[in-house]
Amino acid sequence: MKREPAVKKIGVFTSGGDAPGMNAAIRAVVRACVYNNIEVCGIYRGYQGMVENEIQQMHVRSVSRILSQGGTILKSSRSKDFRTKEGRAIAYANLKAHGIDALVAIGGDGTFTGAEVFEKEYDIPTIGVPGTIDNDLYGTDSTIGYDTACNVITDCIDKIRDTASSHNRLFFVEVMGRDSGFLALRAGIASGAIAVMLPEEKRSIEDLVAILEEGAANNKTSSVVIVAEGESYGGANEVARQVKERYDKYDTKVTILGHIQRGGSPSNYDRCLASMMGVHAVEALIYGERNKMVAMVNNSMVLVPFEVAISKRSEIDSEMRRIAQVISI
Ligand code: F6P
Repeated sequence: MKREPAVKKIGVFTSGGDAPGMNAAIRAVVRACVYNNIEVCGIYRGYQGMVENEIQQMHVRSVSRILSQGGTILKSSRSKDFRTKEGRAIAYANLKAHGIDALVAIGGDGTFTGAEVFEKEYDIPTIGVPGTIDNDLYGTDSTIGYDTACNVITDCIDKIRDTASSHNRLFFVEVMGRDSGFLALRAGIASGAIAVMLPEEKRSIEDLVAILEEGAANNKTSSVVIVAEGESYGGANEVARQVKERYDKYDTKVTILGHIQRGGSPSNYDRCLASMMGVHAVEALIYGERNKMVAMVNNSMVLVPFEVAISKRSEIDSEMRRIAQVISI
């Protein structure tokens, strides 16, 4: 016998920095709702659209042909209004007016922090889907968009390497990730960087210079150093400046990849991950779950309480760090 779903109408939204694969997640949520005879609304511009009543009914065909698109068709924002009690009261009234009795929130730690506060105040069941290129949410092996961003970065650095090699130059390439080094470490390994500057480990400029000197002694004519935006010197420009002061064998250039890292068509991995997570989010709500994030652990879907996902820090893999060091000589 089919169980009566615990929810009747789900609102889905994307919030915070967009990430490739968010559209696949939205599509999966809408399709899973239709499959289970649950109504679904799209809430535009995240929490801000909830406050400003930008809410529309979605249908099975509202999400056709979006799998391959980067960004998010529901748009995204970082809402100031939702941080206030008054803003959240308006948001709740809007949801009620549309008959929405549960939410799927696609985003990162800021999104789930907001969801937790809202859930406590208004008792609205919410399931989170981790969507951020930073991969910084605790409890999931991967977040939606991380794989694609790694591929975009690798592709960019391959191109930088071509010109670095032609001109015997040293490039400092800054990548995103906020205060996490996941993107930087993967980029470093996949693009053959001589060193990676991570927020998680303070490497001195003297150490970095020693690595560059050793590379030069080993006949390296050009090199790439990856600098995570959150590392302690303050980014690639500053690291490059301090290195140049001590060591000027190379003609030095700095490239800040910036928001190009958030764009592009999602990889197969991100599309599949997002599709699985979207369906599981709806099923979790149907079974009465709330206040949890869908997560992928060892290829299985699990649920992680919001408070755990946002309060604990996701550590970068020490084995990956070791590998990066071994192969960069
Ligand atoms: O969280 C995703 C992210 O791209 C971070 O890597 C970066 O620090 C931040 O968002 C940039 O935010 P914005 O697009 O608001 O400048």
